[in-house]
Amino acid sequence: MSTFFLFLLLFIFTISNPPPSFAEQTLSFSVSNSPWTPQSNLTLLSPNSHFAAGFRPLPSSPNLFNFSIWFRSTSAPNVVWSTNPPLGPSATLSITSTGALHLSNSSSGQNLLPGNTSAARNTTQLKLRNDGNLFYGAWDSFAFPTDTVLPNQSMEGNITLVSKNGKFRFTNSTKLVFNLTEQYQDLTDAFKNLDFDGKMTQANGKSFIVSDFGLNRSRRLTLDNDGNLRIYSFDPSIADWTVVWQSGYELCQVHGTCGPNAICVSDGTSSSYDCVCPPGFQPAPGAIEDQGCQRKIPLSKNTKFLKLDYVNFTGGSNQTNWPATNFSICESRCLRRANCEGFMFKYDGKGYCVLQLDRLLYGYWSPGTETAMFLRVDGAEKDQTNFTGMTELLETTCPVQISLPLPPQESNATTRNIIIICTLFAAELISGVLFFWAFIKKYIKYRDMARTLGLEFLPAGGPKRFSYAELKAATKDFSNLIGKGGFGDVYKGELTDQRVVAVKCLKHVAGGDAEFWAEVTIIARMHHLNLVRLWGFCAEKGQRILVYEYVPNGSLDKYLFQPGRVLSTDQDSENVAPVADAEKPILDWGIRYRIALGVARSIAYLHEECLEWVLHCDIKPENILLGDDFCPKISDFGLAKLKKKEDMVSISRMQGTRGYMAPEWVKMDPITPKADVYSFGMVLLELVSGVRNNEIQGSMIESEDWYFPRWAFDKVFKEMNVEDILDRRIMHCYDSRAHFDTVNRMVKTAMWCLQDRPEMRPSMGKVAKMLEGTVDITEPKKPTIFFLTDD
Ligand SMILES: *[C@@H]1O[C@H](CO)[C@@H](O)[C@H](O)[C@H]1NC(C)=O
Ligand SMILES: *[C@@H]1O[C@H](CO)[C@@H](O)[C@H](O)[C@H]1NC(C)=O
Ligand SMILES: *[C@@H]1O[C@H](CO)[C@@H](O)[C@H](O)[C@H]1NC(C)=O
Ligand SMILES: *[C@@H]1O[C@H](CO)[C@@H](O)[C@H](O)[C@H]1NC(C)=O
Ligand SMILES: *[C@@H]1O[C@H](CO)[C@@H](O)[C@H](O)[C@H]1NC(C)=O
Ligand SMILES: *[C@@H]1O[C@H](CO)[C@@H](O)[C@H](O)[C@H]1NC(C)=O
Ligand SMILES: *[C@@H]1O[C@H](CO)[C@@H](O)[C@H](O)[C@H]1NC(C)=O
Ligand SMILES: *[C@@H]1O[C@H](CO)[C@@H](O)[C@H](O)[C@H]1NC(C)=O
Ligand SMILES: *[C@@H]1O[C@H](CO)[C@@H](O)[C@H](O)[C@H]1NC(C)=O
Ligand SMILES: *[C@@H]1O[C@H](CO)[C@@H](O)[C@H](O)[C@H]1NC(C)=O
Ligand SMILES: *[C@@H]1O[C@H](CO)[C@@H](O)[C@H](O)[C@H]1NC(C)=O
Ligand SMILES: *[C@@H]1O[C@H](CO)[C@@H](O)[C@H](O)[C@H]1NC(C)=O
Repeated sequence: MSTFFLFLLLFIFTISNPPPSFAEQTLSFSVSNSPWTPQSNLTLLSPNSHFAAGFRPLPSSPNLFNFSIWFRSTSAPNVVWSTNPPLGPSATLSITSTGALHLSNSSSGQNLLPGNTSAARNTTQLKLRNDGNLFYGAWDSFAFPTDTVLPNQSMEGNITLVSKNGKFRFTNSTKLVFNLTEQYQDLTDAFKNLDFDGKMTQANGKSFIVSDFGLNRSRRLTLDNDGNLRIYSFDPSIADWTVVWQSGYELCQVHGTCGPNAICVSDGTSSSYDCVCPPGFQPAPGAIEDQGCQRKIPLSKNTKFLKLDYVNFTGGSNQTNWPATNFSICESRCLRRANCEGFMFKYDGKGYCVLQLDRLLYGYWSPGTETAMFLRVDGAEKDQTNFTGMTELLETTCPVQISLPLPPQESNATTRNIIIICTLFAAELISGVLFFWAFIKKYIKYRDMARTLGLEFLPAGGPKRFSYAELKAATKDFSNLIGKGGFGDVYKGELTDQRVVAVKCLKHVAGGDAEFWAEVTIIARMHHLNLVRLWGFCAEKGQRILVYEYVPNGSLDKYLFQPGRVLSTDQDSENVAPVADAEKPILDWGIRYRIALGVARSIAYLHEECLEWVLHCDIKPENILLGDDFCPKISDFGLAKLKKKEDMVSISRMQGTRGYMAPEWVKMDPITPKADVYSFGMVLLELVSGVRNNEIQGSMIESEDWYFPRWAFDKVFKEMNVEDILDRRIMHCYDSRAHFDTVNRMVKTAMWCLQDRPEMRPSMGKVAKMLEGTVDITEPKKPTIFFLTDD
């Protein structure tokens, strides 16, 4: 039996390997073997047999060859160095009479090897070192990389990598460029050397490590055909290369992803994008990635503009920023030029007005973009714009629909205020998520600016200002304490108009009354069905009090984690009886799903609707309140910004709650909206399992490095046993046919949210869609966490 398998294995091995495997193998090439031709059937091996070099036929045509170096010990695509373009059958590699190593397409052709290959003729040998470096005398292949750099290959001294398709370059060991000059990313600190453990040393004493640092693996740094620089690691357990680091993840920000005039639209995940044509344009003949789009109707004398929300065309030296105080000045500047293809305008009063002359290149759509693009089309064009803000795309239930409107009429001060405030804060977020407090100072500046523009009156329906006495009466002298939170104690009260309220007395709040008022006005403007409404505030005698709508059913944790519950990992212990709770009903699947969806939508609203400016930073079941009909409502949003400066400095790295904090809080990495996505993923798993992520007991899972998401992943995707992680209290009403789809979607979405690397996690808008089932969910990767080694 085993002999048979051995034979089978040998057989498979033999047929699956390319012709060079028949070839004679050698450790060196010298005058005595010269010349070397594709017909010599010769392969040069490194002493450790990890690398090989020689002529390799192209898969597409057996009569064309590359002279290449490749990983011999890995089974997946693996060429690390290659001559370009391919060679014909009469190519030769020889040592000339003067001792130079000479590669040519025919015996008399010019040398295709770069650099000076001269050496002593009789004594020099061509050899392949253990690290994959091919060397001959003073010449070595490491000095002339193609699209790949190997560990131990120095990148100092200005190396250039070119992607296989020739579109992208990594130059000077720092810059990523398209079409030789169009830079789209600067890695700031030049790369110097990748070591065998997976640590990249950079200039200025910087360095980073790959995600499987330390493991003894084959690795390579490659500039891929999509313009991203990635480090790959060969994972023997799946016999394939996996990405362990990459330079960027927004493919839409890579110049050249889509052709001229086209707009790149990404759904917030790292790997997918679409190139679409703007209204008034249609795909040009050929691939839209290369050829882009062309106008349906050429511009005549009579032209008009179509507004594309959140679209930025980033290409071209011919973008000119001409400060223009208002929209019509900017518009008329564009109209005056025959070669103006459109303009971008920002409503922040700073006069951002960018004309696009001659061409429209590298366009992308992203809710993080603060401007609208006004695209010039012919007057006869009938296409309507379909780039209209997140609101329509997300279809959230949101009473206030904010998108970038056309310039308001003079009388319409209210809308204008909303726009200005929103854009200002989006700008703030982008300039530094971590430094919330600097923002308070700036707000004053913006407010003064707004005042000079005659905009000091904020829209109607803002929060009411209460006096301390009013609130003291409403809460019967703060007697009915209903909660204690990180931001302060919460009391129940009743206003004179019979509205029941929750009154939150804040601790450690920065700034004077005016600043507090300004902040609260912003928070009060966030309206969403799934956000707790802020009705008013009090800023008096050093008191900082917020008045919220009262949400009757309390917070989610009270329902989800009832005492005495044990989730057993033991298959046989079916004796865990459902614990009846006299006070709290047990939430059924339908309600849990609705809670998940509502929470996802409201966080997406915070992240994306108001142009991405509010991070929650503390999503957990305690902050999810349940209203009538168990409609979930998030509380405490926007409060992270109110903290005192000194508090922020000391605790800024420790926002949030253990168990829900994304790894980047601990790793000191920048905090982005993806930190909230992680916390939400944890809540989602808890909704499914009914247990706290750090409180599961059971014989098998007491070890230090137990990690809930990893355990859940193994149960669901390895053991294929979804039922193992479901809340036992409602197992009896779990009907696998009716509920499998919902539960499966919740678990898969949670796994995507819980990825260690923020860029692997979907955006909150995408999460909401995944839960809705309006997008397909691909198989998630197993969540690991950096300080726990995986298997
Ligand atoms: C190289 O291998 C090919 C096919 O395997 C064979 O036809 C050819 O004769 C071999 N050439 C030499 C020089 O051995
Ligand atoms: C050989 O070179 C061509 C052209 O440069 C390239 O497209 C191809 O990927 C190379 N093949 C291998 C096996 O390296
Ligand atoms: C070598 O010759 C082949 C045809 O025999 C041709 O296809 C190929 O492009 C040539 N390569 C170079 C580098 O000139
Ligand atoms: C190439 O290198 C050899 C020594 O390795 C040196 O003698 C020769 O001058 C060099 N040729 C050029 C063109 O630099
Ligand atoms: C190299 O070898 C050839 C013949 O094998 C010999 O004639 C020549 O003198 C040698 N050259 C040197 C520099 O040793
Ligand atoms: C790494 O590079 C150094 C210097 O180029 C060389 O001496 C050493 O042998 C290389 N290591 C391996 C494993 O090839
Ligand atoms: C680095 O290489 C680029 C292109 O190859 C060249 O333009 C530049 O001058 C080089 N810089 C240095 C410092 O050698
Ligand atoms: C590479 O760096 C050198 C100096 O460090 C600079 O002169 C050159 O312009 C850079 N090349 C590119 C393509 O950025
Ligand atoms: C590359 O740049 C040149 C001139 O700078 C331009 O003519 C050409 O169209 C560009 N190619 C692409 C693919 O954008
Ligand atoms: C706008 O319409 C075009 C063509 O009708 C389509 O390809 C594109 O996907 C649409 N864009 C959006 C954002 O829906
Ligand atoms: C920029 O515009 C000028 C005149 O409008 C034109 O001559 C030039 O070719 C443009 N440059 C590019 C890179 O498009
Ligand atoms: C548009 O993109 C360019 C290049 O990435 C960037 O510098 C600019 O700030 C962006 N504009 C807006 C309004 O986001």
